[in-house]
Order: sequence, then structure tokens, then C-alpha cells
Amino acid sequence: MKKALITGITGQDGSYLSEHLLNLGYEVHGTIRRASSFNTGRIDHIIDRLHLHYGDLMDVTAMAQLLLKVKPDEIYNLAAQSHVRVSFDQPVYTGDVTGLGALRLLELVRTCAPEARYYQAGSSEMFGKVLETPQSITTPFYPRSPYACAKVFAHYSTVNYREAYGLHASNGILFNHESPRRGETFVTRKITRAVGRIRAGLQRRLSLGNLSAKRDWGFAGDYVRAMHAMLQQDKPGDFVIATGETWTVEQFLGRSFSYAGLNWREHVDYDARLERPTEVDLLLGDSRPAREKLGWKPNWDFYMLVDEMTKADILLAEREAR
Ligand code: NAP
Ligand code: GDD
Repeated sequence: MKKALITGITGQDGSYLSEHLLNLGYEVHGTIRRASSFNTGRIDHIIDRLHLHYGDLMDVTAMAQLLLKVKPDEIYNLAAQSHVRVSFDQPVYTGDVTGLGALRLLELVRTCAPEARYYQAGSSEMFGKVLETPQSITTPFYPRSPYACAKVFAHYSTVNYREAYGLHASNGILFNHESPRRGETFVTRKITRAVGRIRAGLQRRLSLGNLSAKRDWGFAGDYVRAMHAMLQQDKPGDFVIATGETWTVEQFLGRSFSYAGLNWREHVDYDARLERPTEVDLLLGDSRPAREKLGWKPNWDFYMLVDEMTKADILLAEREAR
């Protein structure tokens, strides 16, 4: 039985990747952080089948012990301070966790588990102020936030450890992917949560920032299949994972509100504090190499994604209202 270790198992992607690997017959291990309140809500439904360990990308000793104890065949580094806006308020912390955290883990893989295959969660945010459209694996990076700078550092550290030490280390450059399990401060979930709550009479207004930004939005459940597929390749490599369609925040907003029979213009306020010091205006990915080499393709399109997220949050708000 193959063993996988997932950092960030409590996050959106960690939960879908765990389900996927369990279905494939893996023994799935993951790191969790001690918190003052419960933080395993996304994996509670499978928790009896998982092996959870306290661990933190800042804590090299604990992570080293974990690698030596678990001896994973595959390591998925999903842990990060993953919020772009927050990274402007906590740039050094974000650089430490999201950037240096990956390097710390790579160094541990090199010394404690050199045969393990390593996946690094890269981001389309690295393309930032895009230098070409669509963005592909050869598009130069132009990061626009401390988060994106940290991800660029993690990306090149992964490439360097692959080339310098022969590690089977791959970068997935994933474009935005969402789900009913998405964190509630990311724009898609913030919108669908508000739609559910407004419809149920629990909330009146929704404050948003820039509505004209364009994102290539996919479904997280589709994207974790690509992470696994990358580590099954004979040779490690880097892949862009994206739907190949781009939509504005306003289009997401319009679709979600209209799914619930509401008009967004009657409920949404503009709040300048939600703007970023530097914005990423347009993301649109070219994932053809992943489709050809990994045999990967997304099953959900934009409308399905918005509708499923909105439906789930309508049900959640109805339960809250009861
Ligand atoms: P997420 O929901 O924010 O989950 C982040 C995970 O990292 C959580 O489990 C969190 O634990 C953990 N974490 C944070 N700081 C940590 C630390 N110091 N040590 C150990 N664990 C730590 O993010 P996601 O959407 O699942 O994304 C997964 C990864 O893909 C992230 O690296 C993200 O930057 C990257 N990514 C995401 C997208 C996207 O659209 N979702 C696109 C491209 C790349 P707690 O639960 O304890 O906070
Ligand atoms: N979060 C948020 N909240 N974003 C808003 C809001 C708001 O109230 N109003 C407008 N936006 C705009 C942001 O300015 C941005 O242009 C867009 O909505 C998307 O913001 P987020 O949902 O926060 O995602 P992101 O694109 O910045 O980052 C996500 O995707 C990256 C991949 O490209 C995160 O998941 C990153 O971790 C990931 O790497």
C-alpha cells in the first residue's frame, strides 16, 4: 500500500486530495495544527481513515521526525498562508510559511526521504501582471503580492532541488479552484455564502472590492487529480492546470445571485478596503501539456461550479435559519 503525506490536509485541497488518495487505496497521512477551536471540519467525514499528526512548516524538528516515522512514498506540500490580500498585511510571515516553508520541507526530503516524490502547490498568482495570455508553463512570472513572491521562491526551490539533487519534485501551477469547501474569505465562497444567507433572511448586504478582475475558475475536486497524476510520471516536471476560460468577479456574482432568484445590484456595496495594493487583473491558463501528458481534464465548467457552490450554501443557510 502506498503512503502519502499531505501538509495542509485540513484545507480545501487537502480534503479533496485525501478523498482521492483513499479511493486509490493509499494510506493517507496529514499534518494538522493545534488551534483553539476545531479545524478539521473539511475532513471530519473521513477522519477515521486518515493518520493525522501535529506538524507545522515552521517546525523543522517535528517535520523531520514525521518524515522518518511515516516514510511516505509521496509528499504533497499544500500548506501555505494562502490568502493574497492577507499577505500584504503579513508579508514576512507569508514569506516564511509559503516560501521558506517549502524550502525547509525540500531540505528535509533531500536528507530524510530522498526517494519520496514531492508535489509543490504552485499558483497562477505567480504570473501576476501577466506578460502573455493565455499563461503557459513558459510564461515568465511577474508576482504582484508577497504571497505570489513566496510562491515563486517555492517554485524555483523545487526546480533547483530536482536539478541539483535528482529529487522527483514537481510543481503544479494551479489556477483558481473553488468548491463548497472553499474558505469563506475568498471571493467565490464569500459571494455564495452571502447569497444563501440573504435568501434565508440572515444577511442584508454584501461588501466587495474589485469586480472586474478575471479569473480562470475550476473545481478543486478536479484539480487534485492532476496533483496525483504528476507524481505518477516517470520523470518529474511542472504543469499548468486550468480550465482555459476566464470570467470576471461580476459574472460570478451575477450567476450566483440569479441562481437564487436575486438581483445582485440590490444587495452589493463597494468597499475600497477590499482592494489590493497591486491587483492581478487577468488569469487564463493554457493546460494543454497536462491534458496531453497526464490525460487530465476538468469535469466541471464555470456554470456548474457557481451553481453547485450556490446550491450548497443555500442549503447551509437554510439549516442555520432553522
Ligand atoms: P487553504 O484552504 O487555505 O488551506 C491551507 C492549508 O495550509 C490549511 O490546512 C492550513 O492549516 C495549512 N497551513 C497554513 N499554515 C501552515 C503552516 N505554517 N504549517 C502547516 N500547515 C499550514 O488552501 P487551499 O485552497 O486548499 O490551497 C492549497 C494550496 O494550494 C496552498 O498552498 C495554496 O496556496 C495553493 N493554491 C491554491 C489555489 C486555489 O485556488 N485554491 C490555487 C493555486 C495554489 P489550518 O487549517 O490549520 O489553517
Ligand atoms: N477575497 C476577496 N474578497 N476578493 C475580492 C473581494 C473580496 O471581498 N472583492 C473583490 N475581490 C477580487 C480580488 O481583488 C481578486 O481580484 C479576485 O476577487 C479573487 O480574489 P480571491 O478569491 O481572494 O482569490 P485570488 O485570485 O486572490 O487568490 C486565490 O487564487 C490563487 C490562484 O490564482 C487563492 O486561492 C490563492 O491561494 C491562489 O494561489
